[in-house]
Amino acid sequence: MNTDLAGKTCLITGANSGIGKATSTALAAAGATVVMVCRDRGRGEEARTEIVDKSGNQDVDLLIADLSSQGSVRAAAADFRSRYDHLHLLVNSAAVFLTQRRLNDEGLEMMFATNHLGPFLLTNLLLDVLEHSTPSRVITVTAPSTTRINFEDLQGEQKFNATHAFGATKTANLLFTYALARRLKEPGMTANACHPGLVRTNLMRHAAMPMRLLLRFLNLFAASPETAAKGLLVAASSQEFEHVTGQFIHNGQVIEAPHIDDLAAQERLWQVSAELTGLNRTGASQTVPASSRPA
Ligand SMILES: NC(=O)c1ccc[n+]([C@@H]2O[C@H](COP(=O)([O-])OP(=O)(O)OC[C@H]3O[C@@H](n4cnc5c(N)ncnc54)[C@H](OP(=O)(O)O)[C@@H]3O)[C@@H](O)[C@H]2O)c1
Repeated sequence: MNTDLAGKTCLITGANSGIGKATSTALAAAGATVVMVCRDRGRGEEARTEIVDKSGNQDVDLLIADLSSQGSVRAAAADFRSRYDHLHLLVNSAAVFLTQRRLNDEGLEMMFATNHLGPFLLTNLLLDVLEHSTPSRVITVTAPSTTRINFEDLQGEQKFNATHAFGATKTANLLFTYALARRLKEPGMTANACHPGLVRTNLMRHAAMPMRLLLRFLNLFAASPETAAKGLLVAASSQEFEHVTGQFIHNGQVIEAPHIDDLAAQERLWQVSAELTGLNRTGASQTVPASSRPA
């Protein structure tokens, strides 16, 4: 695919590693202005230099944000808004897998906070910028997770299983995407989830040894981050997907979307997330009720 993204501004989380870094490189190579969101300045700068070298595009910026911290996400959104007028593409790629239950500064379970609440808040805080930049797209990178979210124990206080907790965050990415797509006001805005397939990255570096051994074997069949990025780029920029919204996309194809019919879970998660991030209080979600949009 010959992609020309000159004049487009793209914000991408998890941009210093794996799929996020390869996607940033592909976007920069296509001529976009790329704003990398990274939590560590050193790792971010190192990746930025590599992306500039590989793409030949100097227009690669770095924004520091820890997605597990709502204060940090709010500061990053404000920082972006002070530097840029437009946002044509937001890619939520950052995620973390942890074996132990850990809490962030707000007392929320770390994987739920980083993998779901971080992108939920960041996206909502930038919705109006996306809205006046149409055509614009939100892509959330996730997996075909069938894990059901336990709304009675969202923070894993009663029972914590790392694999289940991580799977629940990937389900949350899907539920969030479908609920977001229903809320988008502008016809030129879309929100989709993307499955990159099995990709050789650092994601499971904290997993227990048996799982790491299994993954080492599975990685023999896994794709490179660059291959995964090609698939994401189709969803993020091709005309074919210009009006596709609320879908699950893999490698340039709409695929079966788990939980897509579970409107109750989608809306319940949206409400809980708005409450947990304070969006209900500030009204910053800038959204219309789901009932006023066609499904
Ligand atoms: N790899 C696969 O096979 C696969 C399959 C399906 C879906 N996915 C999805 O693809 C996405 C990208 O994962 P990946 O495989 O590319 O993994 P990765 O190489 O580990 O990249 C994850 C990125 O997220 C960042 N991150 C983690 N916690 C953060 C925080 N608190 N604040 C800001 N950034 C944070 C990491 O930054 P640091 O470097 O600072 O830790 C890193 O840049 C994830 O959403 C994952 O669920 C991956």
